[in-house]
Amino acid sequence: MTEDGDCWTGTGVANCERCPALVESRSRIVNGVGPTDADLLFVGEAPGANEDEQGEPFVGRSGDVLDEGLRTVGLARQDVRITNCVRCRPPENRDPTTDERANCRGYLDQEIRTVDPELVVTLGKVPAELLLDRSVAVTSEAGDIDELVVDGDSWRVLLCVHPAATLYDPSQQEAFEGALEAAVGYAGDGGQSKLGEF
Ligand code: URA
Repeated sequence: MTEDGDCWTGTGVANCERCPALVESRSRIVNGVGPTDADLLFVGEAPGANEDEQGEPFVGRSGDVLDEGLRTVGLARQDVRITNCVRCRPPENRDPTTDERANCRGYLDQEIRTVDPELVVTLGKVPAELLLDRSVAVTSEAGDIDELVVDGDSWRVLLCVHPAATLYDPSQQEAFEGALEAAVGYAGDGGQSKLGEF
């Protein structure tokens, strides 16, 4: 049993009360969805109002963009696992605090270990900086590969712009789709051919 054992169900989180402000603001905990043996694990920031209502990540406008992007590269939403850094909706959709990200980090690590994907795809700055523990310039690094290490085990991470960024700034669409295409390429070849450095 890990330190997250009380709330980690094997595929998600139940009854967690670590973040008082989020316990207050959430309607429910929003766990990851999709196959627990998916090749691709997408990680966003935190649930918004739609996700909080429906109990599923990326079901609002950002979700429409993600679904469309996946279709463009020949994937359906059901083919991939989708989760967030933080599983409860922050009040007023503010960014999750450093403490909230840290409180939820162990659950994300558990999910990564459970799914053991070929590739983790970070959607936006928050998951990229959380998992890589460095500052990230998402637009210029979109499509790049880095490495995540959890307790001595490592996974490849591909950086992608957040789907919502394409709504605020349509010029980000190319970087978004390019990163998804790259993700399919890396996952499809077992992560071998383009990843000699890892
Ligand atoms: N919906 C999510 O589930 N995560 C985000 O980061 C944005 C919208």
